[in-house]
Amino acid sequence: MVLPILLTVFATVVTVNCDVISIKENWNDIVISSVASEDQDWWKTATIYQIYPRSFRDSDNDGVGDLKGIIEKLDYIKDLGVSAIWLSPIFKSPQMDQGYDISDFRDIDPDYGTLDDFIELIQAAHNRSIRVIIDFVPNHTSDQHEWFLLSANKTEGYEDYYVWADGREENGKRVPPNNWISAFKYSAWTWNEQRQQFYLHQYLAQQPDLNYRSQEVVKEMKDILTFWLDTHNVDGARIDAVPHLVEAANLTDEPLSNIDGYSDIDYEYLNHIYTKNQPETYDVVYDWRAHIDNITKSKNASTRIFMTESAADIDDVIKYYGNTNGSILGAYFSFNFFFIGLNENSTAEDLADAINTWHDKLPSIYTYNWLLGNHDNHRIASKVGVEKVDGLNMLVAFLPGVQITYNGEEIGMENGNVTCEDGQDGSATKDNCTHYESSSRDYERTPFQWDDTINAGFNAGNKTWLPVSDKYKECNVAAQLAQDNSHLNIYMRLQELRSSLKAQDAILVDHPRDNKYLLHVRRYITASSNTSDVYDYIFNIGSEVAENIDISPDGNVTTFKVVLSSGDSQFKVGSVIIGNFTLSPYESLILRTDQSNKWRASSITLASQYLRKC
Ligand code: GLC
Ligand code: MG
Repeated sequence: MVLPILLTVFATVVTVNCDVISIKENWNDIVISSVASEDQDWWKTATIYQIYPRSFRDSDNDGVGDLKGIIEKLDYIKDLGVSAIWLSPIFKSPQMDQGYDISDFRDIDPDYGTLDDFIELIQAAHNRSIRVIIDFVPNHTSDQHEWFLLSANKTEGYEDYYVWADGREENGKRVPPNNWISAFKYSAWTWNEQRQQFYLHQYLAQQPDLNYRSQEVVKEMKDILTFWLDTHNVDGARIDAVPHLVEAANLTDEPLSNIDGYSDIDYEYLNHIYTKNQPETYDVVYDWRAHIDNITKSKNASTRIFMTESAADIDDVIKYYGNTNGSILGAYFSFNFFFIGLNENSTAEDLADAINTWHDKLPSIYTYNWLLGNHDNHRIASKVGVEKVDGLNMLVAFLPGVQITYNGEEIGMENGNVTCEDGQDGSATKDNCTHYESSSRDYERTPFQWDDTINAGFNAGNKTWLPVSDKYKECNVAAQLAQDNSHLNIYMRLQELRSSLKAQDAILVDHPRDNKYLLHVRRYITASSNTSDVYDYIFNIGSEVAENIDISPDGNVTTFKVVLSSGDSQFKVGSVIIGNFTLSPYESLILRTDQSNKWRASSITLASQYLRKC
């Protein structure tokens, strides 16, 4: 098996040696970074697996996934090799925004089971060394939450729990207090008949925004964190919609964004300088950090973490981590959404730029995180093409820091087909589906594909809350477990590899200037006090064959061992490559070279040291 590959590769070395150099001299070194190696607390190298409970596994056949379904699948999750699961909201909710509208933060929605089921799930996960992270939704509640009912009624003590304001009068008509727009389109204000005032909602009208200028609200929310992270031993929280927590107190109109293509019903129509990332919002987050760290300390337990969902400009995102020297701390990490924008035309330059921007901006005391998708965005396989799934899964697993996987990415699951009639995403169905196709998130939420039996094994054949994708017969867990080079088997090997990539010295990211489709990432892993192991990731994201790739240093012909290859690769795991090689379209490899002093990261500071001289 190995021999023919060696011969081909070696032949290429001999015939095109000088061409190799011309490519190499044009490699663009982008990042050489030092990554702290001493402190290896669990979360710094964790893989977090996001479960969308409604769609994961329906144990009672009522059409909706549930906690018992997740418990049934814990062995699968264990086999994946991930460190933690994050569950999208499972709390009591009228489900107008699929659980992101919570009516009781301390109870489980009957759709998903009971508090006892959740306690059982935590225990069963912990028994398998899988940590559990909840989704904490602090910006708003459901309009059915008792706080909102009490506040609308102006019950003493609850008057200021939400953001209430009088309307204005225009041409004899009552209109909202200002021009603010909801992230789900239309005015961010809804009139409340009972209280005779407008209330603010940055999302659906059924999701009134809490008022963080009320100290009672601040305390209530911290108590809820205590309830789950302390009393119930939950390992962390993903914190929802963080940039929206506080708004400017004077309710000033927001200026127009002047971005083409949006009208005055669209969120993008305004520049959100008064409703997003306000200074007080950061203070709320820093305060949660102190609170959560106190829980960890007081329990003398493994670190409780939280990560913030804050889609914003990079500078604003970074501030959620804390200040530059770490004397003020916020989130353990704030989601890096840079790869969410990938599409079928994305290049290696785009990937390298995204990595580079994070590297430049993130103070070195903080931890990187990488993800390809979530429940709010179309599936990565549909955005870039299924053939690039392995290359991208390999990239986010290979980069240092936290990896987050949205359930289904490990099998390269694509978007499902959902018509507006079957649609369940309240933000997309609310105006008679006028914007359903462009705004629906149902496509990425269809039932998980376990096998090729009825309803893809999501349940036993009853109805399902969203239609099962018609691709399930070809794309499912059972089929991929049986196939050695499947996305799933590659994903599992990646998780195994991540455990040996834990000690980190440095990474280097580069791509050749004359080939924008090749991405190369190198990691130096401390092996002993004076040696590093060197791992190289290389991906051809383009549709043309890339030839004569040479990533050897110092003019030496280096022997690379193939640690992992994409499903369609010509190189089998365990085979050996000498010198340069060729990558087919969409092929990606992770290679390893033997330990050696000359690979020490500290000695490699210049691009030229990678160049192979003729
Ligand atoms: C976050 C969630 C999204 C939800 C919104 C409002 O962006 O990820 O699903 O609709 O917040 O809670
Ligand atoms: Mg069910």
